[in-house]
Amino acid sequence: MKAKKIVGTILCAAIAFTALTGCAAGSGKNKVGVSMPTKDLQRWNQDGDNMKKELEAAGYEVDLQYANNDVATQLSQVENMINSGCKVLVIAAIEGSSLGSALDKAAAKKIPVIAYDRLLMDNANVDYYATFDNYMVGTIQGQYVVDTLDLANATTTYNIEFTAGDPGDNNAGFFFNGAYDVLKPYIENGTLNVVSGQKTFEEVATPSWKTETAQSRAENILASNYADGTNVDIWLCSNDSTALGVENALASNYNGTYPIITGQDCDKANVKNMLAGKQSMSVFKDTRTLASQVVKMVGQILKGETVDVNDTSTYNNNAKTVPSYLCKPTYATADNYKTVLLDSGYYTEADIT
Ligand code: BGC
Repeated sequence: MKAKKIVGTILCAAIAFTALTGCAAGSGKNKVGVSMPTKDLQRWNQDGDNMKKELEAAGYEVDLQYANNDVATQLSQVENMINSGCKVLVIAAIEGSSLGSALDKAAAKKIPVIAYDRLLMDNANVDYYATFDNYMVGTIQGQYVVDTLDLANATTTYNIEFTAGDPGDNNAGFFFNGAYDVLKPYIENGTLNVVSGQKTFEEVATPSWKTETAQSRAENILASNYADGTNVDIWLCSNDSTALGVENALASNYNGTYPIITGQDCDKANVKNMLAGKQSMSVFKDTRTLASQVVKMVGQILKGETVDVNDTSTYNNNAKTVPSYLCKPTYATADNYKTVLLDSGYYTEADIT
């Protein structure tokens, strides 16, 4: 009788401890669900790898899933994470507004959610957001153009085109607005001429950030506006996958002087193009920094500590303003890539040659 009571007490204590610490059944480790959009783009592979490595090193079990850019797949992967005992969810959404039902289920089970790089939209059950300063990504690109062509003192007109990102990704508008705000005065005073006339986000967006979509739009623009020998001097691209599309289009549909082309992510293919003179710059977002910040957030959440954030006003997702941590972007060019990308250990020479 007495022994039974002791065993019962130990069992109860164990259950209470488990409930308190949120240990996943089996391993005794807290499990963290990491949901990534796709393996198609280099950056998400790096993000996923970094997150897994760092979370495991910090003592967590990791359920890392890629959703093949398919919203329904991502939804069911996140639901599985909720049902299989994940204690925190880290989600980089394919389409920011599509995961509401899963976020509601997570909230019902008191599972905190961190939006990773891309904000989760239209739902209040998003606890934190960790990303790079997305508006600054755009201003860096715009300022690069201003500085390289010394637009403040320009006496000629330069022709420019824009290619932006996916309308379903909240970041895409921030990138475009950041760049456009810097360039707008020069468009208004005639120093920059948008020859195609396409200058709203809606006109220049690239659904799903697809290289092929950016390429075919660029081919149309070149055929309609530049076939008579008009030079395009600048092509402001929001990221590397779209820049690649523009570069492919130029390679086979253009005989003029190569434009200044901007990008973002420092994807290997684009760094190679940069070294070959086909792309001018790429915003560098060190995915290791973001991963470390998110791992820190996960730890702080699970230990009940104050979570580090540095922005509590910018990112409203239409349901709440999500406390955010914004990492700082910088940029790489053919001139500084050795310091920025090689000395930092981000790439080896072999990666980009
Ligand atoms: C990311 C960019 C990336 C783009 C396409 C954005 O949400 O912030 O780094 O280039 O998605 O994957």
